[in-house]
Amino acid sequence: MRLLCLAALLALYTLPAQAQPIPPVHSNPAIHPVPSILEKDGRHALLVDGKPFLILGGQAHNSSAWPAMLPKVWWAIEAMHANTLEVPIYWEQIEPSQGKFDLSLVDTLLTQARTHKVRLVLLWFATWKNGSNHYMPEWMKKEPSTYPNITGRDGETIDSPAPDVQATLDADTKAFAAVMRHLKVADPQRTVIMVQVENEPGSWNSVRNFSPGAQKAFEEAVPAELLKPSILSALQTPVTSAGKGGENARPGAGSWKEVFGDRADEYFQAWSIARFIGRVAAAGKAEYPLPMYVNAALRDPLTNPPATHYESGGPTDNVLTIWKTAAPAIDILAPDIYLSGTTRVLKVLDLYSQYGNPLFVPEAGLIPENAKYLYATLGNGGIGFSPFGIDDNTLSPAAPTSSHELAPDNDALHKSSPDEESLHKLTPYGDAYAALSPMMRDLAQWIFEDKVRAVIEPDDHTEQRIDFAGWQACVSFGKGRGYPLPGNTPPTGKLMIIQLSPNKFMITGTNCRITFHPLGKNAGKAWQYLKVEEGTYANGQFRAGRILNGDETDWGGPLFGDKPTILQATLM
Ligand code: DGJ
Repeated sequence: MRLLCLAALLALYTLPAQAQPIPPVHSNPAIHPVPSILEKDGRHALLVDGKPFLILGGQAHNSSAWPAMLPKVWWAIEAMHANTLEVPIYWEQIEPSQGKFDLSLVDTLLTQARTHKVRLVLLWFATWKNGSNHYMPEWMKKEPSTYPNITGRDGETIDSPAPDVQATLDADTKAFAAVMRHLKVADPQRTVIMVQVENEPGSWNSVRNFSPGAQKAFEEAVPAELLKPSILSALQTPVTSAGKGGENARPGAGSWKEVFGDRADEYFQAWSIARFIGRVAAAGKAEYPLPMYVNAALRDPLTNPPATHYESGGPTDNVLTIWKTAAPAIDILAPDIYLSGTTRVLKVLDLYSQYGNPLFVPEAGLIPENAKYLYATLGNGGIGFSPFGIDDNTLSPAAPTSSHELAPDNDALHKSSPDEESLHKLTPYGDAYAALSPMMRDLAQWIFEDKVRAVIEPDDHTEQRIDFAGWQACVSFGKGRGYPLPGNTPPTGKLMIIQLSPNKFMITGTNCRITFHPLGKNAGKAWQYLKVEEGTYANGQFRAGRILNGDETDWGGPLFGDKPTILQATLM
């Protein structure tokens, strides 16, 4: 039945084939100021229409931002109650021949996003995509001597663009500026709230560029900006007990090798790429200053592996200060969560909250376990979260037999309903977003005010505790009523809690149980619930559907099941 309804919804999504001309909108800049990031006392809020906003997002697959593919993207966005679609825009499509820009894709996305009442984060797939140059326009790929890739240690060509080439920088800067210039005019409503500049930049298979030009720069003195004590100490203090940031490093002026020792190759690559991308971002911001971020292909945050083990030069946790220094136009360095293990992922969230960096998770593998990291991100002060690959568009549809079949209004493509597996993958995110969406603005404000905490189920399922002024919340994981709860397999339990006033909490979660203990002057004393209500929170108000009592709160409750519910609990 549910699938039938969703198929019916999908049928409605047969949207215009071509981008409709964007009608002029006379927006009031006071109502729709340019989105921005607000910082206060190390906490952040993404301001959209002048108020804190949380990205409850979903990211489309790489090849899904084409008119024929978009119906399935909107289907997924709707099914998961997301308020933001993260979607690529492609340099190869936007500048098919040098200097000739086609921004119809941007217009299509704007029109359709407005129809669906969601915001957009545009992903500028350009010089770097997963470390390669694959989204460069054909006219560039055909001129590898003008727009070269990097050279490996033994002189081999590596599948990764060279970050020290002015022609590439000029071309990318020009194209990105054209996109932002267009957006400024086409989007007075601020449908686009943020832009990702490039995608997972860095290089696989060579830690840096060894071309003669790059080698010369490597042997020159490290730029003075990197020689500040705070940056040096961030780059060289031990990251974990397992190793150092740069063994054999010798702080002080000198070549990269002299200053940074064994980490010099990677730091040089990070500096070169960050400077390039910082310039692209600055050129875009000069046209239209939307918040901008760069996403990171992560390294293991616990073992300080050598850069040969991951994509070198991107904003990995060990080079965040290099990126912050080299690319000030980039507001956020954002981790893509594809690592596994709760401890590891929580460590990533901590590391990307350092150095004044707003926490934002633009990608996470679309598996049920990862939905708990939405809570962990928001509990850590984050501004948003998005699983990757929400739509069902990865496989080619049946091969078209004529160009007519490629037309974007092909009914077969539009109406094919996503399969149950896709629905199953979206469900944990959809359930969480459905509960949080109606309170999104208040939640963003509470996060900014440091009132929100979250705990997630660790891999060993142990009980988690959160201390508030006057109360300790104890959260155990699993289903059922037994004590202790057995844990969930996989460990999907999660709980978010907001202290509304000293004795009043709003709580939401799944597959866990919460109880409290008095702290401070009341520690060890008896306590009880004055009232526990279950309901909804919308438009700034909690509305109770029922009062929970008796078996639903006694014996160490209340309990949360598979679907997140919202409780308001007053304690005495
Ligand atoms: C991370 C990239 O940023 C995405 O564009 C996509 O390629 C995913 N990896 C695929 O898992």
